[in-house]
Amino acid sequence: MTAAVPTIPTDQLPKHVAIIMDGNGRWAKLCGQPRAFGHRAGVRSARKVVRAASKAGVEVLTMFAFSQENWHRPLEEVNLLMRLFISTLKREIAKLDEYGLVWRFIGDHDAFAPELRQLMAETERRTRRNKGMTLLIAVGYGGQWDIAQAAASLARQGEAITAEAIESRLVTAGYPAVDLMIRTGGELRISNFLLWQAAYAELYFCDTLWPEFESRNLHEALSWFAGRQRRFGRVPEAA
Ligand code: IPE
Ligand code: IPE
Ligand code: MG
Repeated sequence: MTAAVPTIPTDQLPKHVAIIMDGNGRWAKLCGQPRAFGHRAGVRSARKVVRAASKAGVEVLTMFAFSQENWHRPLEEVNLLMRLFISTLKREIAKLDEYGLVWRFIGDHDAFAPELRQLMAETERRTRRNKGMTLLIAVGYGGQWDIAQAAASLARQGEAITAEAIESRLVTAGYPAVDLMIRTGGELRISNFLLWQAAYAELYFCDTLWPEFESRNLHEALSWFAGRQRRFGRVPEAA
C-alpha cells in the first residue's frame, strides 16, 4: 500500500507552483558518475513530481529546465541537455493524454534546434484543449529577458508601460502569479527565474538534490505552504 497523501484544502493549496530543479550534477558526482547520469535521473524525478502536483490539485506548475545562463555551460553538457529534451519529449508525446496536462514551453527558443522547436510546438498543439494541470516548461528562460521582451512589445506598439501592461505581455500572461517557489539542491537564490511573477511567492528551499526529490518532498512543501500567512503588505486580519 502506498503512503497516505495528505489532502490539503483547496483554499490552502498554491494555484501556481514553480520549481528550480537543481542539484543533478552534484548528485551524479556523489554517485561517482558523469553529470549526464544526474540529468537523466532528473528527468525521472520531474515526471514523478508532475504527476504528484497534478494529483494534489495544483493548477499551474512551472519547471525550470534550462536557463539562459545555462548556455554558458561546456558545449558537451549543453548538447547533452538538448538531446535529453528531444528524447524526453518524443517519449512523452506518445502518452500525452495521461493526466490531461496542458503543456506550454516558455523562454527564448530562437537558439534551439528546429527539431526541438517542432516537438515543443507539436506538444503544445496536441494538449491545448486538455482540461488538467497546466505544465509550463521554462527552457531558454530568463526572468530579466521576460520582462524586457514584454516592455519591448509594448514599446513597439506605442503602448504605455504600466505594471498591468507588462504583466499582460509576460510569457506567463493569463496564469496566476507564483504562490510557491521551490528550489532543491541547497542554494538560496532564484537564479533569474520568474522574477516578476514571484514577487509575492513563498520561497521554499531544501537541501535535497533534484534526482532525490520525490512526491513526498512535494507534499512536504505543499503542507509548509498551507501553514504560511500571506499578507501582501497588509496587516493580519486578526491584528
Ligand atoms: C540542474 O542541475 C539542472 C540544470 C541546470 C539543467 P545542475 O546541473 O545545475 O546540478 P548542480 O547544481 O551542478 O549540482
Ligand atoms: C538554475 O540552476 C537553472 C535551472 C535549474 C534550470 P543553476 O544550477 O543554473 O543555477 P546557479 O548557476 O547555481 O545559480
Ligand atoms: Mg545547479
